Amino acid sequence: MNSGNGAEPILEVKNLKTHFFTDKGVVQAVKGVDFTLANGQTLGIVGESGCGKSVTASSIMQLIKSPPGKIVDGEIIFRRQKRRAETIDIAQLDPKGVEMRSIRGGEISMIFQEPMTSLNPLHPVGRQIAEVVELHQGLGRSESIKVAIEMLDRVRIADPAERVKQYPHQLSGGMRQRVMIALALSCNPSILIADEPTTALDVTIQAQIIDLMEKLQDDFGSSIIIITHNLGVVSQMADHVAVMYFGRIVEYGTVTDIFRNPQHPYTVGLLQSIPVLGRRKEILVPIEGIVPNATTEIAGCAFADRCPHVMAKCRRHLPPITTVAGEHQVACWLHEGDAAKVEVA
Ligand SMILES: Nc1ncnc2c1ncn2[C@@H]1O[C@H](COP(=O)(O)OP(=O)(O)OP(=O)(O)O)[C@@H](O)[C@H]1O
Ligand code: SF4
Ligand SMILES: [Mg+2]
Repeated sequence: MNSGNGAEPILEVKNLKTHFFTDKGVVQAVKGVDFTLANGQTLGIVGESGCGKSVTASSIMQLIKSPPGKIVDGEIIFRRQKRRAETIDIAQLDPKGVEMRSIRGGEISMIFQEPMTSLNPLHPVGRQIAEVVELHQGLGRSESIKVAIEMLDRVRIADPAERVKQYPHQLSGGMRQRVMIALALSCNPSILIADEPTTALDVTIQAQIIDLMEKLQDDFGSSIIIITHNLGVVSQMADHVAVMYFGRIVEYGTVTDIFRNPQHPYTVGLLQSIPVLGRRKEILVPIEGIVPNATTEIAGCAFADRCPHVMAKCRRHLPPITTVAGEHQVACWLHEGDAAKVEVA
C-alpha cells in the first residue's frame, strides 16, 4: 500500500516476501508487503504477535538469518540522504558486503525488541557506542568516548561517565534497552527502525524515549518506522499507520484514517481490544479466535475465521486493495463493488 502524500519517499518497500524454510514447512512470514516511508515522517506498524512486523524490519536491514530465512521477492528502494539522494535496492545487496554494512548502522539503524541482539557482551557499552561514532562521524577515540557519555546522558542513564565503562551484563534490562537506543541514535541515522522500543521500560522512561526519538526527528529530519503494540505511542508519533495481519498489510492510512475511520474488520477489532491513551471508551473487547498457523497456506482472506462480516468469496479469493479515500487503503471484500462498508461503533 502506498503513501501518496507530497513528501519525497526515502524508502519504498515493494512486494516484499520473506520466507523461512524450516523442517516443519515454509513459513511465509512476509507475503508481499508494500509501503512508502516519506522523508522526515513516521510510519507506525501495528498488528498481532507473529504477523510479520519484525521480519519486515529485519528484511529492510538485511538481517534475516539465512538459512532458514530468505527475502524471496520484492524491492527495498532506499534513497540515500548521505549520498546525494542516490537510490539503491537493499534487497539486491549482499547482507555481509561493504555497502550493506555502511548503510546498516550508518544510515539506517534499528532498535531491536531484544537488546542483547545488538549489544556485544564482551565489550564495555561506551566502547560500543564510541566505535559507531568513530566509524560514522570520523571522530577520534577520546572525542568518541565523550559523545558516548553524552548519548548515555541523553537516554537518561545516571552517572554516564561510570556506566560507559561497564559491560552489558552489569546493567539492568531497562538500561540495556536505553544503551541500545543510544547506540542506534549515535550515527544520526536517516531512518530509525524502532521495534518495540519501550516494552521493557517503565511508563516514565517510555515517555522519555518517545520524546528522544521525536527530538532526533526534529533535529536531524530522520524518518522513523515504529513497530509497537502500544497504540497510544502510534497515535502520538506516527503520521501514517500500516496494520499487518498474517504477513500482509490489510489497512494503511494516516493516523486519523486508522484511528477515526478504521475500515478493515481486523483494525476495528484491534482498536477495540487494546487501550488507547486518551480514548474515552473503556470497555475492551478481545478479538475472538487465533491467528492461523504460520505454515498454513490460505487462498482467501486470512482473517475469515475471525471476521464477523465473512462472506463466501472471502474464503476463496484474496481481497484486493481498495482505496477508501485519499491515502486510505484497505484489503477487504467489503470494500469491493456495492458491498456495505464496515459499521464502526
Ligand atoms: N528464524 C525463524 N524461523 C522460522 N520462523 C520464523 C523465524 N523468525 C520469525 N519466524 C516466523 O515469522 C512469523 C513472523 O514473525 P515476526 O517476528 O515478524 O512477528 P511479529 O509481528 O514481530 O510478532 P511480535 O509482535 O510477537 O514481535 C512468525 O510466524 C514467526 O514464527
Ligand atoms: S475480506 Fe471478508 S473475511 Fe476478510 S476481513 Fe473482509 S469481510 Fe472479513
Ligand atoms: Mg516482533
